[in-house]
Amino acid sequence: MSRVVAENISPARDSLPFFDSREAVELSSVDSCTSPTLGELLQCVGDVRKEVTGDETPSHQAFDMSETSIEPRALPFVLSFNNLTYSVKVRRKMKLPTIFGSQNRLGAAATSVEHVAGESLVTRTKVLLNDISGEARDGEILAVLGASGSGKSTLIDALANRMAKGSLQGSVTLNGEPLESRLLKVISAYVMQDDLLFPMLTVEETLMFAAEFRLPRSLSKSKKKLRVQALIDQLGLRNAAKTVIGDEGHRGVSGGERRRVSIGIDIIHDPIILFLDEPTSGLDSTSAFMVVKVLQRIAQSGSIVIMSVHQPSYRIIGLLDRLIFLSRGQTVYSGSPANLPLYFSDFGHPIPEKENRTEFALDLIRELEGSRGGTKSLVEFNKSWQNMKRSRARYIDQTPSPTQGFSLKEAISASISRGKLVSGATSNANPASMVPTFANPFWIEIAVLAKRSFVNSRRMPELFCIRLGAVLVTGFILATMFWQLDNSPKGVQERLGFFAFAMSTTFYTCADALPVFLHERYIFMRETAHNAYRRTSYVLSHSLVAVPTLIFLALAFAATTFWAVGLDGGISGFFFFFGIILASFWAGSSFVTFLSGVVPHVMLGYTIVVAILAYFLLFSGFFITRDRIPPYWIWFHYISLVKYPYEAVLQNEFQDPSKCFVRGVQIFDNTPLGAVPMPLKVKLLSSMSNTLGYNITSTTCVTTGTDILQQQGITDLSKWNCLLITIAWGFFFRIVFYFSLLLGSKNKRS
Ligand SMILES: Nc1ncnc2c1ncn2[C@@H]1O[C@H](COP(=O)(O)OP(=O)(O)OP(=O)(O)O)[C@@H](O)[C@H]1O
Ligand SMILES: [Mg+2]
Repeated sequence: MSRVVAENISPARDSLPFFDSREAVELSSVDSCTSPTLGELLQCVGDVRKEVTGDETPSHQAFDMSETSIEPRALPFVLSFNNLTYSVKVRRKMKLPTIFGSQNRLGAAATSVEHVAGESLVTRTKVLLNDISGEARDGEILAVLGASGSGKSTLIDALANRMAKGSLQGSVTLNGEPLESRLLKVISAYVMQDDLLFPMLTVEETLMFAAEFRLPRSLSKSKKKLRVQALIDQLGLRNAAKTVIGDEGHRGVSGGERRRVSIGIDIIHDPIILFLDEPTSGLDSTSAFMVVKVLQRIAQSGSIVIMSVHQPSYRIIGLLDRLIFLSRGQTVYSGSPANLPLYFSDFGHPIPEKENRTEFALDLIRELEGSRGGTKSLVEFNKSWQNMKRSRARYIDQTPSPTQGFSLKEAISASISRGKLVSGATSNANPASMVPTFANPFWIEIAVLAKRSFVNSRRMPELFCIRLGAVLVTGFILATMFWQLDNSPKGVQERLGFFAFAMSTTFYTCADALPVFLHERYIFMRETAHNAYRRTSYVLSHSLVAVPTLIFLALAFAATTFWAVGLDGGISGFFFFFGIILASFWAGSSFVTFLSGVVPHVMLGYTIVVAILAYFLLFSGFFITRDRIPPYWIWFHYISLVKYPYEAVLQNEFQDPSKCFVRGVQIFDNTPLGAVPMPLKVKLLSSMSNTLGYNITSTTCVTTGTDILQQQGITDLSKWNCLLITIAWGFFFRIVFYFSLLLGSKNKRS
């Protein structure tokens, strides 16, 4: 089905004259713009389009045949990379005597030795990319081939600027101009090797959310829908449009379809450069062919496509325009697939007639790698072959440059005016900035993010049900264990125990927030790497989405325990109890979310959460009151998240000074005298009264609620302050969560 679509929509641009009148108007107007910055240039382009077409929205209709007929042809793009060299330091512990021998064996790799207490740390420089040069053009697919470990992903990362500054040598230029990181982010897309998608969204919804993130607000919803539908056809996903993505637990779309959805979300805004790391791995040959066919179509719509690929099939080779073969970080062939037979016959290893060219090449390279001289002869041969080709080309073709003398800015502007780079064209709120960074204002991002997680979690109600079940079961056990506590000294002890346990349980039940973000983390990293939304929007929407669930859970817990245990305070007491539980859930979930931002593994995360919460309980003031905690540990008491809600509920319970908890003879409870008969206790009381000169009858109140608070050392904060501090802790952890994302999601090699 999709292949039929593919055939039908082959771009008509090649039949068009290179420049049409509309483009001429645009470029002349671009020249008249006084400021040379790209931001202003883009703005000018937008204005011109408005003048010419009267349309406020970007004119991206690449798959609408009626539009393509008036579409101007873009100026060419050429991405060149020259002498790319990238190396990493590998440290190894070695025994002293082996160092000198190893230095010779390491050959070209530089070695330095540091002596550390009897052992030596050998720092070896491992060259992952060695002087790689090449070129990729729009309309073409550049494929990087090579055996596993040859450096394909490294090269793609180097081109996509996914390496930390300074570690990569050599230059990457677009139309002769160095590529600035921010510009590349906006005009390119990088499709990761894994498919990181929300499992419970359908293909169409997934693409629609991508459209809402990446396409500008000025584009109406119906136009976004049109773009998504065009993309579904382009990707050959029409039959799977309404199917959920699925995961291990839910059946969903096939692997090949999922791959194409992953590509789709990254090309929704029609980037000029598309990087893909092994888009065909793990797919059967038909699905792999379909994916590459889609990539060819994307390239033909005016993009540069650069991808790595493992052993492409014969049919796939037919779709590739340029190949780079790598072997241990070095180029062993660079050129078109058609030249492969000539190249290898010149090298003295002609490709047998019926053999797959790339398979033959890869096998030969592997054979050479295993031989004594390595691939050195082939690397050298490639260099001389390249030089020969270059000089021959210079002799035959006198055209100065494939970019026809147009600058990068002009090429981008022309490309945008054709409807490419949809988000870049109109969201340029601040023309002074070099490039518009985000397609939407942050409140739209928050709304879209919230909607997406709502839809995704609504399709997985079991998650919420499990949380609710856990809270209800805990509530039920507590309610029955502490059923209708009385106001005796024993009852007071039990109340204290109930509060300490209940408050720490609220924190423990938040631990299930841990895997939620750990799964989403990679989706988040992929989406923010190319500015789909701001990190602040994500943190805010993540917090907002959590609140309704927490309200529900807090209500369930408060309702099951408050009256069953017989807590004090009536309706207002209940609402405060509910409020403090909600605040604890909020602080707890923020704390766990923060941990999930810094701890990358679920098991490690759980261990840390459980340990820290246990310490929080230990220092909360329940086991040892504040005035008895050793001074060197008192700081931990104040950072204990359990302290504040625990003190708040105690104050809520014991705040009534008229309420009595120990009366007359009850002072002997919990002492050895508790066992003596009642008349004797009354006698003891009267003789005590005589000695004290103060009459204590069997009904005189000896300890009120306020006294209990004093005994527990709860004197420093009011219950409302405790509530506010608990809420503030929640906000604090959300803020540090944001910083952990900021620092921890750089997504670049060092
Ligand atoms: N940080 C590092 N330290 C040491 N060696 C590294 C490091 N990163 C990558 N390498 C090595 O660099 C080589 C190239 O890795 P790269 O991921 O680019 O290979 P690849 O061609 O993409 O392989 P595959 O086809 O298996 O994905 C590998 O041998 C790898 O072990
Ligand atoms: Mg790889």
